Amino acid sequence: MTAPAAFGPDAVTAFGPGRVNLIGEHTDYNDGLCLPFAIARGVTVRVEPLEGERVQAHAADLGEHDDFDAAAPPRDGEGWRAFVRGTVGELLAAGHAVGGTRLDIAGDLPRGGGLSSSAALSTALALALLALSDEPEGDRRELARLCSRVENDWVGAQTGLLDQLAALFGQQGHALRLDCRDLSLEPVALDLRGWTLAVASSGHEHVHAGSGYNDRRAECRAACEALGIASLRDAPPDAPDHLPEPLNRRVRHVLTENARVEAAVVALRDGDLEKLGALLDASHASLRDDYEVSVDAVERTVARLKDAGAAGARIVGGGFGGSVLALFPPTATPPDDALVVEPAGAARVTQAPT
Ligand code: GLA
Repeated sequence: MTAPAAFGPDAVTAFGPGRVNLIGEHTDYNDGLCLPFAIARGVTVRVEPLEGERVQAHAADLGEHDDFDAAAPPRDGEGWRAFVRGTVGELLAAGHAVGGTRLDIAGDLPRGGGLSSSAALSTALALALLALSDEPEGDRRELARLCSRVENDWVGAQTGLLDQLAALFGQQGHALRLDCRDLSLEPVALDLRGWTLAVASSGHEHVHAGSGYNDRRAECRAACEALGIASLRDAPPDAPDHLPEPLNRRVRHVLTENARVEAAVVALRDGDLEKLGALLDASHASLRDDYEVSVDAVERTVARLKDAGAAGARIVGGGFGGSVLALFPPTATPPDDALVVEPAGAARVTQAPT
């Protein structure tokens, strides 16, 4: 691979953070509650104008390239290319200008590790391209929707808005209580009083498109139809009693997980970290048994983290692989391979043309 040429004075650099969802998994597309935070690791995208009408993209960490017509990005890209083409395509569809551009992508997030490298990439890229064409970034909820369409329509994963909102609204020192019914966000101070949150990879890479993720979404839709409601947020507490297997367990997960988000907010406000650990364990049990999104490698990772002294551990993100989030008391040390995570700031332009 030849190293890309140095960037000129018109270059723009933007950063999109990864995210950890403390609790509230598979609730976002059910109009439910989540409690994510952005982390310091993420994806950096540098863009600069290029003569002509081509987009030339370089993924530095992978040593891979893409090259396509800026006015008509092809829809058949896979992996990171689908995100780049899709972000350009959705910006164009929303009426933004994208001309010839060279872009360079680098990151320090494990891909497919459940920390949403995908939203980190699309949010950084969208912010960089908007700044390059001197356009205001506009409303960040709209931008989250735009980036989510990239994942839904270009990548083929029917994911919700959790990752994009976490990346675009993250706040240092805070988790965000996100209500997906009205997209309201409430910062909740993440004061861990000497406890530590750490994420360990299960070694089993996950990909949402093609995993059971879309099946779970379809099951939730089927449950809503059977119950005659618009979203599972409207499901009454006894809804599982009126549904066949496995829809009853899917709905039970969503209902109990929403309640666990509320309980986690209370536990954080009370400084009750033991309680938070118990909630992480309960969330994992529900994701494993009722929602069935765990795999053997994840179970082994949960067991390993609990053996290392975690007060609670659970699969994080979409599931079917990825990472495990664990909460360690001050007396325990996370294993060496675990990444200690803390809430950091939102996606941003880090260098604009002078
Ligand atoms: C993935 C999706 C999110 C959300 C989580 C599960 O990260 O991108 O929209 O559904 O899975 O909570």
